Parts: sequence; structure tokens; C-alpha cells
Amino acid sequence: MTSQNALLEVQNLKKSFGGVQAVKGVSFSLFSGEAVAVVGDNGAGKSTVVKMISGAYARDEGEIRWNGSLAEINDPDAARGLGIETMYQDLALIPDLDAPGNVFLGQEPMKRLLGLVPVLDRKKMEEEARKLLERVRINLPSLDRPVRQLSGGQRQAAAIARFLLSERARLIIMDEPTAALGVQEQRKVLDLIQTLKAQEMTILVVSHNLEHVFDVCDRIIVFRAGEIAGIVRTDEVDKQTVVSLIMGGNT
Ligand SMILES: Nc1ncnc2c1ncn2[C@@H]1O[C@H](COP(=O)(O)OP(=O)(O)O)[C@@H](O)[C@H]1O
Ligand SMILES: [Mg+2]
Repeated sequence: MTSQNALLEVQNLKKSFGGVQAVKGVSFSLFSGEAVAVVGDNGAGKSTVVKMISGAYARDEGEIRWNGSLAEINDPDAARGLGIETMYQDLALIPDLDAPGNVFLGQEPMKRLLGLVPVLDRKKMEEEARKLLERVRINLPSLDRPVRQLSGGQRQAAAIARFLLSERARLIIMDEPTAALGVQEQRKVLDLIQTLKAQEMTILVVSHNLEHVFDVCDRIIVFRAGEIAGIVRTDEVDKQTVVSLIMGGNT
């Protein structure tokens, strides 16, 4: 059975590591423009599932559909090619490069000097980077500062701006994006999620923080011991219900 109009649909995903069944047959759908949280205890299989969707892990079993068609996501490039971008905890930024340099890493716009010699088109790069950074609503004091000098929230925004460079980007996956940040910086990431949602991006975010999840997410997928314990809408349940699902009704 397939869901009509789902952007992403996973069916019966399974993954084991040696003798450990990390993910035991997980199915869910994501729709365009929604933010969906993945919650659950440590070791519940959250990261393993998102890594199968982002192409970082090969699945043992199951299907992934993208816009209704079967998708072979065998590596991160394949996921990216479809429009699935993943924000890793280290953000994969080059600390000594500035934000435009990071946004365009490996895809730098070139121009020809005297119609001959290809050189970096720094002006175009800055203009385009500025537009993308505006889309994620960050204002950098200056564009030519190495990103290691930026705050955690600004660095995350720079990482997201790079995703938006790909016009295909439709789904952004974040695994514990606020875990290493201070309270104010966490707020910026939540705002960023809302901004992206308003631009019809779909967000799949692993989080431990139910406060945050109820703040910005439309639905919650609760994982327990490698299975889905429940999928709920944040406007229909309270936190206690979600906590019970996480704990297995033993609260
Ligand atoms: N690369 C790996 N090698 C071996 N075991 C792993 C690996 N990744 C995850 N696991 C195991 O799979 C289970 C689920 O882990 P994970 O998906 O990281 O959980 P969560 O993100 O919910 O905390 C755990 O038992 C974990 O130890
Ligand atoms: Mg994890």
C-alpha cells in the first residue's frame, strides 16, 4: 500500500549490526512542507533510520519511495541527487573558509578573465550566498569571516544555505541539531526549521527535546527498540502521551 502524494515513503526498513537488530521493520510517510520529529530512547534506532534515508547506511530490507517512485538510495550522493540533504553534527563545513566559500564548496561559480583564463567569480558567489543566507534568515556581520568564528546557529544556517544551493532540495534531515548548542542558539535552529517549512521544505528532525518538538513539528514518530511505537500529531496529543509511547506505556 502506498500513501498518495507522499514526498517520501519508507516501508518495512530493517537493519542489523552483527547480532543487533537496530531497526526491525519501520514504515512511515513524509509530506511536502511538514516538519516531522523522530523521538525515542537512546539506541531506539532513530539515527540508523535517518542514515538509511540519507544513504549513509545500506538497508538490509525494505523500500524507499520518493515522489511515488521506488528510489535506490545507496550512498549520500544518490540521496542528494533526489533532493534529500542531511545536516551532520559536524556540519561538514570547512572552518577556515568563509560562508560563501562553504556554501559553494566544490561548485564555485567561475568567470573567464580576458575571455580566456577561468577564475573564481567571487562577486557572483557573494551575491548568491547572500540570497541563500537571507532565505535562512541569518545576517552575518561580514561575509568574509571564516566560519569557525561564527556562532553555532550561524554555522548551522550556513550549512543549510549550502543545501538550498541545490534547487532539487526538498527534504532536510537533521539528527539532534540543537544538542550541542546554548539556549539562544537552539532557538535560532527552531526558527530556522520554521523558516524552511514556510518555504515548503520538508524537515525530518531527530530530537530529545519534546519542548522543541512540540514547538515546531507537525507530527512525531516515536521509536522504541527499533520499531515505531506510535505516530502522532502535535496538535492532538500532549507531551505525557509521547513520553508514555517512548517508555512503552510504563510511566
Ligand atoms: N555503526 C554501527 N555499528 C554497530 N552498531 C550500531 C551502529 N549504529 C548503530 N548501532 C546500534 O544500533 C542500535 C540503534 O542505534 P541508533 O540508531 O544510533 O539509536 P538512536 O539514534 O535512537 O540513539 C544501537 O543498539 C546501536 O548500538
Ligand atoms: Mg542517534
